[in-house]
Amino acid sequence: MNSIRYPANFTWGAATASYQIEGAWNEDGKGESIWDRFSHTPGKITNGDTGDVACDHYHRTREDIALMRQIGLKAYRFSVSWPRVLPAGKGRVNAAGLDFYDRLVDDLLAANIEPFLTLHHWDYPQALYDAGGWLNRDNLHYFTDYSVLMAKRLGDRVNRWVTFNEPGVIANDGYVSGEHAPGIKNNHKMAYQVIHNLMVAHGLSVQALRAANPALQVGIVLSQWGIDPASDDPTDVAAAEFAWNSGETAFLHPIFRGHYHPIMVDAIGDNLPEIKPGDMALIAQKLDFLGINSYSRSVIGAQGRVAPIPGSEYTEMGWEVCAPAFRRTLNRINTDYAPPPIYITENGAAYPDVVSPNGKIHDERRIDYLRQHFTQVRLAMQDGVDIRGYFVWSLMDNFEWGHGNSKRFGLIRMDYETLKRTPKDSAEWYGGVIASSQVE
Ligand code: FCB
Repeated sequence: MNSIRYPANFTWGAATASYQIEGAWNEDGKGESIWDRFSHTPGKITNGDTGDVACDHYHRTREDIALMRQIGLKAYRFSVSWPRVLPAGKGRVNAAGLDFYDRLVDDLLAANIEPFLTLHHWDYPQALYDAGGWLNRDNLHYFTDYSVLMAKRLGDRVNRWVTFNEPGVIANDGYVSGEHAPGIKNNHKMAYQVIHNLMVAHGLSVQALRAANPALQVGIVLSQWGIDPASDDPTDVAAAEFAWNSGETAFLHPIFRGHYHPIMVDAIGDNLPEIKPGDMALIAQKLDFLGINSYSRSVIGAQGRVAPIPGSEYTEMGWEVCAPAFRRTLNRINTDYAPPPIYITENGAAYPDVVSPNGKIHDERRIDYLRQHFTQVRLAMQDGVDIRGYFVWSLMDNFEWGHGNSKRFGLIRMDYETLKRTPKDSAEWYGGVIASSQVE
């Protein structure tokens, strides 16, 4: 069998996010987040699920770290719940919340697992939202204050810091599709302003993190799906190119070129956000790494998006499995933007796993998905893209936003009745990849 080898120092990990796993939504002084409010609103989440308990990770971190160790993870990407440490998003600090992350980091380090910290993975403080949220520029510096608070507390032990996870999803799913908190629909004007203000908050945070501790490695995590034309026909190719330029460059362009893509600006038309003098320079802060989340691709033709693609396989999310698109996307980003070192900060697949009579979860399709994507990422590295690590989404099944507990992405199965954790076959397989630095 052919095997593909990875550098011995490659950072193999798994990722989670606070709201999706922690639970303890109102314990030990935690404030309300917009996701608490949204999930408590009837009709918003499949089956009425909430993150109130989720995986109860808040009370089970030791057990979860033992499982990470069992798999052999070298790194763990998690996010901090902003309202857990600052219940109103600003002002009074919740000592118990800070202590929780402090212990988590210490326990990870004791287990020889590198903590990779995301400051904001969507659970925005409700109190700040009530005061105008991301649309209110006066609120942006509260994110900076929060960043500094965390850097001062954990910067001596956490080296890699992510400002935002997928800012585009915050804007699009929160203000256009309305499938995510705060659940506003079809407000493109707001969405573009949120995009721009998130970028400004990112720039302010990068500056503040560096000022607080110059040793920190700082980056951002962007969702970058591939875009392929439906055919070689020039009209299809042009349509795909337009989709890339007007959408996929939304964050890459300002961060690495210092301005929004002219084709995107043109497409935005009247919904152009308010941009203040100095904003673009602030946004284009030099980064130490770029995080990329990718799960699938879109196929675009002159008539719009083409789906399903005949002959293609789809995951439980309805996302096409197309690993070669991942390699192409990484190459394109590398060529167009010459980014700093890249980490694959999320990649994985949801499948309706079945528990066998012997208690095992034979999730062959997930293994197959990961094998294909690991391989294409290795090929991208050989093409010349500097990729330093890979975080599988997710460590364990968890609260998948609007889909609630119905979509399972984990290497570890969650029994939501008993909260029992069971590593799936994919966990064992991944452990083998990490231990041998190769994919068979
Ligand atoms: C990404 C999110 C992550 C998870 C995966 C499936 O967009 O960052 O929290 O929901 O999708």
